[in-house]
Amino acid sequence: MASFVYILFFFLLISDISAQDGDVNIECPFPEGQDVSSPEKCAQYTACEWTDVQCHLRGNSEAGYAVEGAPVPTERGYKLNLKKIDQSVTMFDNDIRELVFEVINHEDYHVQIKIYDANEARYEVPVPLNLPEEAGTSPKYVVNTTQDGEPFSFSVSRDSAPEDPLFSTVGALIFEDQFLQFTSSLQTEYLYGIGENIRNTFKHSFQSRETKPLFARDQPVGDTEVNNYGVHPYYVNVNHKTGTAHSVLFFNTNAMEYSTYVLSDGSPALTFRSIGGIIDLHFFLGPSLEDVNIQYTNMIGLPAFPLYWTLGFQLSRYGYTSVEDVREVRERMRAMAVPQDGQTIDIDYMLRFRDFTYDTDVWAGLPEFAEELHNDNIKLTIILDPALVIDFENYSPGQRGKDADVFVKWMSEDLVPADQEPGCESYVVGYVWPDTKTMFPDFFKPETKAWWANELAIFHETVNYDAIWIDMNEPSNFGTNLARPWNWPPERPDWSLKCPYNKWDSPPYPTKMVRVGGCESQRISEKTICMSSNHTNGKETFLHYDVHSLYGWSETVATYEGLDGVFPGKRHAVLSRSTYPGSGHYVTHWLGDNTAEWSHLRNSIVGMLEFNLFGVPMVGADVCGFLNDATMELCARWMQAGAFYPFDRNHNGIGQSPQDPAFWPEVAAISRDVLALRYKYLPYLYTLFHDAHHHGHSVVRPLFSEHMTDIDALVVDDQFMWGTGIMIAPVLIEGATKRSVYFPEGEWYDLETGQLVANGPTTLQIEAPLEVIPVFSRGGAILPCQEPALTTAESRQNPFCLTVALDSGLRASGELFWDDGESVHTVEHEGTFSATFEYANDTLKMAVFDSKTVVSGLALETISFFGFPSNPSGVVVNDEALSPSSWKYEEDMVLIVHLSVPLGEDLLVKFSL
Ligand code: NOJ
Repeated sequence: MASFVYILFFFLLISDISAQDGDVNIECPFPEGQDVSSPEKCAQYTACEWTDVQCHLRGNSEAGYAVEGAPVPTERGYKLNLKKIDQSVTMFDNDIRELVFEVINHEDYHVQIKIYDANEARYEVPVPLNLPEEAGTSPKYVVNTTQDGEPFSFSVSRDSAPEDPLFSTVGALIFEDQFLQFTSSLQTEYLYGIGENIRNTFKHSFQSRETKPLFARDQPVGDTEVNNYGVHPYYVNVNHKTGTAHSVLFFNTNAMEYSTYVLSDGSPALTFRSIGGIIDLHFFLGPSLEDVNIQYTNMIGLPAFPLYWTLGFQLSRYGYTSVEDVREVRERMRAMAVPQDGQTIDIDYMLRFRDFTYDTDVWAGLPEFAEELHNDNIKLTIILDPALVIDFENYSPGQRGKDADVFVKWMSEDLVPADQEPGCESYVVGYVWPDTKTMFPDFFKPETKAWWANELAIFHETVNYDAIWIDMNEPSNFGTNLARPWNWPPERPDWSLKCPYNKWDSPPYPTKMVRVGGCESQRISEKTICMSSNHTNGKETFLHYDVHSLYGWSETVATYEGLDGVFPGKRHAVLSRSTYPGSGHYVTHWLGDNTAEWSHLRNSIVGMLEFNLFGVPMVGADVCGFLNDATMELCARWMQAGAFYPFDRNHNGIGQSPQDPAFWPEVAAISRDVLALRYKYLPYLYTLFHDAHHHGHSVVRPLFSEHMTDIDALVVDDQFMWGTGIMIAPVLIEGATKRSVYFPEGEWYDLETGQLVANGPTTLQIEAPLEVIPVFSRGGAILPCQEPALTTAESRQNPFCLTVALDSGLRASGELFWDDGESVHTVEHEGTFSATFEYANDTLKMAVFDSKTVVSGLALETISFFGFPSNPSGVVVNDEALSPSSWKYEEDMVLIVHLSVPLGEDLLVKFSL
């Protein structure tokens, strides 16, 4: 360890980087937006200067910090002091005069870099990270900085290519009390991730400057300029020349924005701005995309392992009117034989939109209906919103919450509005769905977690739900700062939650978010609660200003852990709208309120790919669209694409015409087929989730995952992979009956017919009439499968199969994981089964591991080979010759072998050719 520090220290002393002083393309931000940019406006900021037509940041030697002294070794790296070069040069004032730049070595592929106030502690993100106890001993990275007295800049490179940095700061670092800004040139323009924003392409664009805000907001899908539900300041950058990837997390939760653009020398650049906290960066060196995913999720928390049933098709809508209404749809689904594993009910079931209640008149029979669903092997998901009514006397969950003191409060008594309702103490009071004002639980508090767990348990006694959907957790509040919320009862005098004008609720630079998305109040508290509110975890107090974007994360932890009491020993299904790094350890995410439009079907694929980078692989969009009415064709195509979302839920908005797949006979037939295909390959999907949960892999992957030097693959975002074995190319254009499909290197077979379709890399036109979604298996993959059924409870009992897609060397491999589909995994992996499959030299081997009990009674009955060279003259299964009637060699080199062997036994199948 000591020698490692010494080597690093020595390297630091002898190396320095020649930093650019500045770049005219590094914009100075204006609170009112760039449109107001003018020499006069620019002159208001001493850190800025006007050149030609741009107000840009002055050079590093004027606006930045200088290195002061030599680096000081620490246990895991070193610290370097920085001092503001000229305190009179500023953007919004209150520059932190003295900073510490700290390098913290974690793993050989993971380094953390922090820049913080040398003299006063500032807010740091309270989300726990898994960091190694011992630092790695042979780091694969090199961190360089400028030297004593020089304007400060730094870079991070691979040790194998120090001359080609992964991250290299350009121009001045700005570190003010409420404004941080830094810019890095990027290795290439193949930049992915950073959200949650709506993006039409997976790869970022650098053609013209794009600036997007990040801050959790109840903001429907559509506008690409706005901040949406969650925050993930995390990107992956691919070097197409070397075929390597690295990633960077900016671990900060304050309101932010980022810009992608090119520097004056043409190189791609990324600027981050945040209005609080510190600069805390984590670099992951990969080098493969999956390495990056594994490294990142191991730090933020490995993805949750979904309950098996949640991989089945789920049906939902906002606007069901009664139990009978849901039952009718359910009957329709059954009559049309469309598979279904989950039924969700939205806020309609509640009594006056109050959590933990149900309307015993309009929704009479709900508890019995839950059992009815259970008898049909269908699970029930119920929604909960964070906003609870202040009607304490008539609402016992609220009263119990008050008794335990669980609600978010104003940061000081003097902010409590004069018209505060009686009994509301110093709670922040707003208005959401209920007809009564509401308050918001502070999920950071241990008392809140205990109270929430208790409420979850009490309500479960009434309605035997199986899963919880936590919505509106940005947190959403209606009409903040406006005259009245849109749904405020017309007969009541105007009222809304009004936020004060102070440094938290009116920060000097409120970021782009106040200027986009029809931000009516033009304040950062748009659609949410005030920044001048307090949270506490019992030890520390946090301002809502700092932890706003963690509200969803904190509710997620409270809900997941709360369900331990309801379902002891079982995994839980929690669906959350707002997420932050680490949320994937607990939840499923859906991409929010989309519209029944083709473009929204298209960009759901980008969202799904992004959330797989963010460590939330259990993701999907509202199938068939939430807002507006879906057409039959759109819904059919969406049911097809959705059948390959990890989280496959058709959800509809209130007032919209029905869009459950059984509503149209054509969609019902198409859904039946495509869901049968999904259910057939659920053992493969489940195995991918097992790898995600135990190792940190992604589930849905971009085509370039295994082909990072393939520049055609790097821009494909209308196709995606399940792991490495299945490629999906849904039809996303109205009226289309064929589509062009890109096939990366290798052999690609039609997953249903087994026909060889392409030898990549190539682009082909693939026929896709309405009833067809193009899906392919990659040569080299062995995909475990099972005979499908109408629910997973049934399909899980069915015979297993294997699809063996051979590569050009006539080889393939794969694996299967199996368990009871619901238990929490012990470290010893008790009660779980796994098997590996290998086909080579005309022999298929299955090696079985772990417990066999969980697969007792299950048999492997069919093996389909794609690309099999000829009709075998003999097939021997575990030393016994199969009768020739047991296999069939079809045209197109497809061989189907029927057998019956227990899944729990090792298997050897030899072919004589
Ligand atoms: C907003 C959610 O995004 C949507 O899915 C839900 O239906 C409504 N809230 C009503 O609960």
